[in-house]
Amino acid sequence: MYSILDDAARRAKAYLQGLDGRPVAPAAAAVRNLRELDEPLPQESSDPVETLALLDRLVSPATMAMAGPRFFGFVIGGTLPVSLAANWLAGAWDQNAALHLSTPGVSYLEDVALRWLVELLELPAGTGGAFVTGATVANFTALAAARNAVLSRLGWNVEANGLFGAPVITVIAGQEAHPSLMKSLGMLGLGRSRVVRVPSDEQGRMRPAAIPAISGPTILCVQAGNVNSGAFDDFEAIIPPARALGAWIHVDGAFGLWAKAAPSRRPLARGLELADSWATDAHKWLNVPYDSGLAFVRDPNTLKAAMAITAEYLPTHTPERNPSDFTPELSRRARGVEVWAAIRSLGRAGLAELFERNCRQARRFAAGLRAAGYEVLNDVLLNQVVVTLGDAAKTRRAIAVLQHDGTCWCGVTEWRGRTAMRISVSSWATTDDDVERSLEAMIRAAAT
Ligand SMILES: Cc1ncc(COP(=O)(O)O)c(C=O)c1O
Repeated sequence: MYSILDDAARRAKAYLQGLDGRPVAPAAAAVRNLRELDEPLPQESSDPVETLALLDRLVSPATMAMAGPRFFGFVIGGTLPVSLAANWLAGAWDQNAALHLSTPGVSYLEDVALRWLVELLELPAGTGGAFVTGATVANFTALAAARNAVLSRLGWNVEANGLFGAPVITVIAGQEAHPSLMKSLGMLGLGRSRVVRVPSDEQGRMRPAAIPAISGPTILCVQAGNVNSGAFDDFEAIIPPARALGAWIHVDGAFGLWAKAAPSRRPLARGLELADSWATDAHKWLNVPYDSGLAFVRDPNTLKAAMAITAEYLPTHTPERNPSDFTPELSRRARGVEVWAAIRSLGRAGLAELFERNCRQARRFAAGLRAAGYEVLNDVLLNQVVVTLGDAAKTRRAIAVLQHDGTCWCGVTEWRGRTAMRISVSSWATTDDDVERSLEAMIRAAAT
């Protein structure tokens, strides 16, 4: 009955081993062939092995090779084999990781992983957290705690009474905040359009002198890692004065938070530990499967106040931590397992090597493209490169040629009024040879 799992493992291995030799983007024919999936709703049962074979035959070739070493299109990694394997095992366990009493193994594991993360990312001792689906939801989760805290200081219980008639919260964020942060604020009833936006400098950093005077309940959102340039806000200049005036400081560090674990990049993140809450992704630079994000809150009680529920039939009262007391979801998969496996197997040294390597590879891309005569628009301090390959039309054309060529995959961005190509180096699988091959392909594409 379970031999289908061997079949899946064999197919998965063949897929991963084939990534190096295939174009990164799927062939147009493979995408066209997806129409074969348009079958009528099956009325009868069929052999599960045949369903798996169909999936592999039609969908595997229609995938973007994001798991491979030369996908640089978004700030996302691949999946470390150990985390993929842990994901399979956890899938077999089929744990509904909401409550400690019913799922002690995976709940305990998330506790351990959380403790390691707080230490690795140099967050304040005692910081609480939640394993959620990605940085959008991590921002949402941490900002729900922020909303609870700034209003409860004024005696307002937002979970019970909502925002109708509540004291008005001022939300401040940089001009260059990620659009998903605005979505998170909108979902919290804090309004996407009423956020006070602070002008940024040429690297996308918030200008500290332009932050408005803070008074009353305030949430100030800063950023570790601009999605284009990789730049960090100046936390040491921004956080202490704002916090002294009572503002809750939240850091969106979807990928930049990991700089804390890369010795040479650590200075970029200096001072972010002074904040009240943080959001990051594990499916970006930690290279675990989607969907995996992390919310951290200095005072875990505020996160619990925003997220916990009680019900007669739910055994929530245990001395141990219930994962769902800290997450938007009640039923949830044990996504902490893959995070635990990545940290357990790479260790501090292996993680530092991964982050440092990717940053060095980004610098190599920048140097190679500059040497070929192209303009790099950002200071390449982390894993991001923003480069023009001529004027806007030429840059767009070169990117289309590059994507078609298939050696690697990068996308178009707009950076401070310029059309550019963005290179994000975030995968455990990327070797220096992959960088050289990709660089050659980029220069070739730009020359056409
Ligand atoms: C700074 C920043 N915040 C938030 C996000 C959203 O992350 P996710 O897609 O995991 O929700 C991203 C994605 O690139 C990001 O770069």
